[in-house]
Amino acid sequence: MKNKFIKNICCIGAGYVGGPTMSVIAFNCPELRVDVVDINKERIEAWNSEDFSKLPIFEPGLEDIIKKCRGVNLFFSNNVEESISKADIIFISVNTPTKKKGIGAGFASDLKWVESSARQIAKFARNHTVVVEKSTLPVKTAETIKSILNSSEQNEGINKMNIQNNQKSFSIVSNPEFLAEGTAINDLQKPDRVLIGGEDHYSIDLISDIYQNWVDKEKIITTNLWSSELSKLVSNAFLAQRISSINSISAICEATGANINEVAKAIGTDTRIGSKFLQPGPGFGGSCFKKDILNLVYLCKFYGLNEVADYWEQVVDINQWQQNRISSLVIRNLFGTLSNKKLAVYGFSFKANTNDTRESPSINVSINLLQEGAKLSFYDPKVSEKQILSEFENNINEKNVLVNNTALKAAEGADAIIVLTEWEEFNHLDWEDIFKIMRKPAWVFDTRVFLDKQYLKNIGFKVWSLGT
Ligand code: UDX
Ligand code: ADP
Repeated sequence: MKNKFIKNICCIGAGYVGGPTMSVIAFNCPELRVDVVDINKERIEAWNSEDFSKLPIFEPGLEDIIKKCRGVNLFFSNNVEESISKADIIFISVNTPTKKKGIGAGFASDLKWVESSARQIAKFARNHTVVVEKSTLPVKTAETIKSILNSSEQNEGINKMNIQNNQKSFSIVSNPEFLAEGTAINDLQKPDRVLIGGEDHYSIDLISDIYQNWVDKEKIITTNLWSSELSKLVSNAFLAQRISSINSISAICEATGANINEVAKAIGTDTRIGSKFLQPGPGFGGSCFKKDILNLVYLCKFYGLNEVADYWEQVVDINQWQQNRISSLVIRNLFGTLSNKKLAVYGFSFKANTNDTRESPSINVSINLLQEGAKLSFYDPKVSEKQILSEFENNINEKNVLVNNTALKAAEGADAIIVLTEWEEFNHLDWEDIFKIMRKPAWVFDTRVFLDKQYLKNIGFKVWSLGT
């Protein structure tokens, strides 16, 4: 670190963003102490678990870093107040889900966790503190954080608490996270770019210095606060748009006899289009894409840009349509009814190599199938039974949801297997054994277009692959 006065970093929120990001900072900056704090006791206990399979987040490469840094310069605790009071830099990495009620419900982000973090920072921070927005946030959230940090009411609270050093001041920096789950550690270690938006050079340089411990200076982009906040939303909106585009074309392929993988390859070799993010599937999931587009839609409407809002909202509409289209197709192929039928669902996480199920397409597709009377038998290599059941709590007769610990067991007596997550192990299953224990005709619905269709057909399966 160029700046020798910076010693302590605090991160509020030990989730999918805070946990891996702080682990990588601690790993690359041994001279800094990184405290990751959370109000959730269970989550912190899991981060501190001696049994590394119990870490709350599964990410390739994370365990190795935790083994090296935890208890050395990386600490997980519930000591929110104490860690804030010691910190020179505080990252806010709390959850910001879409609002369920009130103004902007269904579109705007619920900022209550950000607000409560800002209030805690206002109360317990000392001296000059740089506050970094890490969670994905609506544009202009920095304004809200700033007004809370500078509110006189909070400072009165400090006086009452009689904290000696009351020379506090704050700067706000936006440093959005671009990591994708499943490749988080690699994305953090070798980012395409690091974006830092702020209002004063001192704070921007401070955050930039941290990253320069392992990231080339040329990859660090600095902007004003609002450009940084907006770029995060736009980046996710563009990525999600590509997925909705390719998924919309998957339906045309099915109708015309074209093959979606061939079309994706043919268009992706045009360097202007590029080959990444053209994988067709059951629609995007994850905590970010839908939320960020809806935030963008809300922002457009707020500024009276209704046509722009409608344009981006279509990306989410097509995503939902794709999931409903898949469930309808399954029902149609199984003779129009699912009552008294058992269907195996392979994959519950929103993509491979993560145990995260937020906005997973498996949830909507499964709910549609359950509503048609199906019995569902799940298998996912990383998602726990408790997590799968929790997604159906308010919807479903529990007797119709079974969770298994092997793919084979899940398929026992099933009429169909619906593959919803592209776990590599699904390509290496003993499909012949699976075929034997299923009811006939036995179907495989490959919504990720990654299984060997001909091989499955040769075994005797009836196979439907998306976009072919
Ligand atoms: C995304 C962004 O990639 C990341 O930069 C941002 O910080 C957070 O949001 P994440 O949601 O973790 O990351 O995963 P990502 O790999 O982007 O996949 C999102 C969803 O899109 C998944 O459901 C995935 O299966 C789907 N997807 C992705 C496709 O269907 N096709 C593709 O070609 C790529
Ligand atoms: P993300 O994917 O953005 O990291 P998560 O939901 O995985 O979101 O993690 C956010 C974490 O932030 C949760 O573990 C939650 O308990 C924590 N959190 C929310 N509000 C506060 C707060 N005021 N103080 C400390 N931790 C908080």
